[in-house]
Amino acid sequence: MTRGPSPTTATRRPSVTSVRHLISIDDVTDADLYALVERGAAFSAGTAGRPAPLAGDVVGVYFSKTSTRTRTAFSSGALRLGAQLVTYGPGDLQLNTGETSEDTGRVMSRMLDVLVARTAGDPAEMRAWAGQERMAVVNAMSADEHPTQALTDLTTLRGRFGRIEGLRVLYVGEGNNTASALALALTRFPGAELELRTPPGYGLAASFRERAAEQAVRYGSVFRERHDMADLPADVDVVYTTRWQTTGTSKPDPDWRAVFAPFQVTSALWEGSPKAVFMHDLPAHRGDEVTAEVLDGPASIAFDQAENKMHSAMAVLEWCRT
Ligand code: CP
Repeated sequence: MTRGPSPTTATRRPSVTSVRHLISIDDVTDADLYALVERGAAFSAGTAGRPAPLAGDVVGVYFSKTSTRTRTAFSSGALRLGAQLVTYGPGDLQLNTGETSEDTGRVMSRMLDVLVARTAGDPAEMRAWAGQERMAVVNAMSADEHPTQALTDLTTLRGRFGRIEGLRVLYVGEGNNTASALALALTRFPGAELELRTPPGYGLAASFRERAAEQAVRYGSVFRERHDMADLPADVDVVYTTRWQTTGTSKPDPDWRAVFAPFQVTSALWEGSPKAVFMHDLPAHRGDEVTAEVLDGPASIAFDQAENKMHSAMAVLEWCRT
């Protein structure tokens, strides 16, 4: 997308001629997906140099929902890449008083170079913000998808295993926005295997399940979902879970804990997969989705994964502006 002429062009970096939005993993080409993972892994390994591709840029950070990792990752990452920040909390924007998403995007794009946003809404709001060609929009989590988490997860896998192709991932827990993004991303790697074990009634949304299944056929990966914990796959490389109370959501069923209880990740899962690493997007609730023994044990790479949120965010910000 070519940025059109504007009265403020002189104040913008002349080398930047386009912006790229990241609202869904579907927005990223295969080449860009693989490059983002490689670049995030390079930042993580300390081999990316010390570039400042966002020098002179202003990054807006708008979170209408709580966040520790993603907000800090993008803020710290943007500062490390040379940008300055404008931050907004849930009560700050005139969206609250009825200004349209389209007008919000149009106005912000005249003052910001990138907007990183977390909302409780569907992607339509972010797509409306992205309806201009001057400011990149990054989805830092919406109700349906958490694309920057998936990029973090792939960056972590790349750093740990040196590859993503052929890795076998067992995901246990709710089919939430983290699982949706992971399914869209991992099934684009030939030979990769993603098996979801989701509680009955809390599986992946149909549109994501269908897209992941279609990609598995097209890319030569494997995608499966079941709603029980019998006959788990053996010798997986990764066991992954997320917290049961997904950020910004609540469960209408008062007995939901009974449905989730069999899906707790315990050390028993390592009997069939003794070499598996444990991943968790955090925040964690020890004793709910995972035992403390697993989260704080030798197989856990959850806190390296958390740090990789910043390295992956830097790769995303650089990609948005080059
Ligand atoms: N994993 C994740 O998105 O963490 P935060 O909610 O703290 O940003």
